[in-house]
Amino acid sequence: MKSIVYISKSSVNDSQELFDKLVTNASLKNKSANITGFLSYVDGRFLQCIEGDDKYVSALMEKIKVDARHCILYETSLTSIGHRNFEHCSMKPVTVNDHASFGLRTIFQQTLTFINIHYADRRRCDMYMWQQVKNISLL
Ligand SMILES: Cc1cc2nc3c(=O)[nH]c(=O)nc-3n(C[C@H](O)[C@H](O)[C@H](O)COP(=O)(O)O)c2cc1C
Repeated sequence: MKSIVYISKSSVNDSQELFDKLVTNASLKNKSANITGFLSYVDGRFLQCIEGDDKYVSALMEKIKVDARHCILYETSLTSIGHRNFEHCSMKPVTVNDHASFGLRTIFQQTLTFINIHYADRRRCDMYMWQQVKNISLL
């Protein structure tokens, strides 16, 4: 199994509308490929984690990468993962309207700042990103 997490910058005017559309459409598609994960959105930035069979996760990421509605800022992946962090969610939507909004906004801001500062140190950024995925799974 493989897991990918990335941050991207939205290229559309109404990112909230795109987010809502994605959550509905993507979760249906992900379910059929047994892909789990979450999609979150704050202030024009997306943070998404997808996990599942290598083949399906890689194929989906190829599509996501060329999607003109956003632009990937940072991406990292883990192969041979033993378990899923989002076992029961084909695409858990995490938004600032959730009860966990304060936690999410904080995680988002900290992640963007961390990646900006430590961009050259990939290993450190990767570790940080996976820690944030874990934190979101606990929200
Ligand atoms: C931020 C973002 C997240 C996305 N997440 C998913 C996803 O989890 N699953 C999915 O099927 N498509 C997702 N998409 C849409 C894909 O980029 C692509 O449009 C879609 O998979 C096309 O499917 P099709 O080739 O079967 O029409 C996402 C797009 C964006 C901009």
